[in-house]
Amino acid sequence: MNRLFLTIISIIAMLSGCGRPAATSVSSPNGKISLDFHVNKDGAMLYEVQVNNKPFILPSRLGFEEQTGMALATLFDVMEVEFAKEDETWTQPWGENKTIRNRYNEMVVHLTNIDANLTMRFRLFDDGLGFRYEYGYATDGSTLLLTDELTEFNFAQNGVSWSIAADFDTYELPYRTLPIDQVEDANTPITMKTEDGVYASIHEAALVDFPEMTLVKKGNMGFKSNLAHWPDGVKARIEGGTFVTPWRTIQIANEAVGLINSALILNLNEPCAIEGDLSWIRPMKYVGIWWGMHLGIESWVMGDRHGATTQNVKKYIDFAAANNIDAVLAEGWNQGWEGWGDPSQVPFSYTKPYADFDMEELARYAAEKGVELIGHHETSGHIDNYEQQMEEAFAWSKSLGINNIKTGYAGGITGGQQHHNQFMVRHYRKVVERAAAHRLSINAHEPIKPTGIRRTYPNMMSAEGARGMEWNAWSEGNPPHHHVLLPFTRLLAGPMDYTPGVFDILFEKTRNLPQRKKWNPEDKGNSRVNTTLAKQVANWVVLYSPVQMASDLVEHYEGHPCFQFFRYFDPDCDWSEALQGEPGEFIAVVRRAKNKFFLGATTNHEARTLTIPLNFLKEGVAYKAIVYADGDNANWETNPLEYRIVEMLVASTDTLSVEMAKGGGQAVSFVPVE
Ligand code: NOJ
Ligand code: CA
Repeated sequence: MNRLFLTIISIIAMLSGCGRPAATSVSSPNGKISLDFHVNKDGAMLYEVQVNNKPFILPSRLGFEEQTGMALATLFDVMEVEFAKEDETWTQPWGENKTIRNRYNEMVVHLTNIDANLTMRFRLFDDGLGFRYEYGYATDGSTLLLTDELTEFNFAQNGVSWSIAADFDTYELPYRTLPIDQVEDANTPITMKTEDGVYASIHEAALVDFPEMTLVKKGNMGFKSNLAHWPDGVKARIEGGTFVTPWRTIQIANEAVGLINSALILNLNEPCAIEGDLSWIRPMKYVGIWWGMHLGIESWVMGDRHGATTQNVKKYIDFAAANNIDAVLAEGWNQGWEGWGDPSQVPFSYTKPYADFDMEELARYAAEKGVELIGHHETSGHIDNYEQQMEEAFAWSKSLGINNIKTGYAGGITGGQQHHNQFMVRHYRKVVERAAAHRLSINAHEPIKPTGIRRTYPNMMSAEGARGMEWNAWSEGNPPHHHVLLPFTRLLAGPMDYTPGVFDILFEKTRNLPQRKKWNPEDKGNSRVNTTLAKQVANWVVLYSPVQMASDLVEHYEGHPCFQFFRYFDPDCDWSEALQGEPGEFIAVVRRAKNKFFLGATTNHEARTLTIPLNFLKEGVAYKAIVYADGDNANWETNPLEYRIVEMLVASTDTLSVEMAKGGGQAVSFVPVE
């Protein structure tokens, strides 16, 4: 990793005693984004942003409120302002891009008032900005109780926005497309396009020991931070005499895909904290005993429909070994599923398998076949039960050759805590840190939203945190625009374990099986997957996850020509670029893994054709391209299964015409010809 070069280029002034207001400003390296900061006559802090020399964020408040009335928002004087520049390149063990440039101009404003010293740190990049609060305050040893964050984002213009509603317990909500001035509240990332055509997304980076930030409407086209809270209403409990907040971020781009190609969130996180060898943190492809339970043809609980039996898991291990797949997940392997949603039952154990799941034998069998098992820890929100067993469970799992754990929080959190409050942010972090100590990677479901922690802890590999594939099994499902919104919203925060790849789109092979039972009250019995088959293949590329699942029952892949794509697919990519796209409409992404390239393109309910120059391929090299496309008469609603596979020789000077049916997509693998 490159050393941080921080060059202080000027220390402007000792402004204390000069009287208020004092204005200070900083621009992005290319000069297109600029930010002004000032304190008003009451010593309250405000910032404003210009993009392309036009107002973008109008004067917006900064600061916090505290229960005993400590002055954390007003009465401030600017003491000193420092400016610095950074331009470094760093690498990560895995990611959409393994090499990342971190280039920004920084303005550090030191302020003081009767209660606190405050440093406001602003960083301006060519692809947006971030700022955070670094408070030092006088305390008699008592805990500081933050009751509100005042940070505002007052947009100068209206426009269109894409977001989910704010909710401190779930992100598994449908996306809304709304004018900015009609958004009452939202979770982040919320993405927008202003009337001037500027794309932006508000989120946060490095969320550590703090509640998550959501947004609530304030004024005409503005938002104010609204933090998740403890059961008593307090937003954050701060011990000791200082605290540093997560970064508040605004990614900014002239094109929608610019938001996806931005590494701003990662750049605002701390470098890797795991010392030594990182080779145990590896991207992988997996299959699992999972979809059968969501479809209702298998059960998590032990019984005659039990999915995670020794025999069934061996079948999945055999399939993985035969199809170039690294790992197998088995949900429902452990005792306690009777108590999922029923606290009167025995709670989950994370070291005791059900009697028909022979863990030692499966560990041996998997190792013999060169396949890894993925552990599954559903907590159902019982944090005490999980934390009591975590150390032992991690050590036991590792001793069995397990390197990855999928965690889950499907249920209310013990003690009236919220999934996204400071208590749970601490818990999610503890899990990642302890997992790192045991050399385990985490894929969290019902997680805290990603904020780039993966840079510091690259064992924090993937997360759910939006409506994933499971919703298609038992609800009205995810509409065709969902998959072309995720890359522009949720995925800006980090990888998502969406679990694409259901080939039996209409559930024709399972719907009428006699053992099928509805286990979820939302199941109306008429669910299906709302895409074409080719779009399922394309989603393996588009919906980035370093641990990528082929989620259907393995028997639905046996002999299927389209499964060849996943067999060849390499999730350990070196470089990625979103080529074209508009939120909720379409997207085309290309990724390179070693010398292979994978292209994924998808569309909403509209059929469309994209013209894609192949100039990302290595010059002078011939590639065999295998195209997995919608069939001529494919249509997600009426004819989702029709596809065609075409092979051709291509070079970087060629252009591909990517035809997609309504609700369809296209995937292409490019392998150099020797
Ligand atoms: C919800 C998770 O998202 C899903 O993947 C899992 O199968 C269930 N909880 C049970 O743990
Ligand atoms: Ca879930």
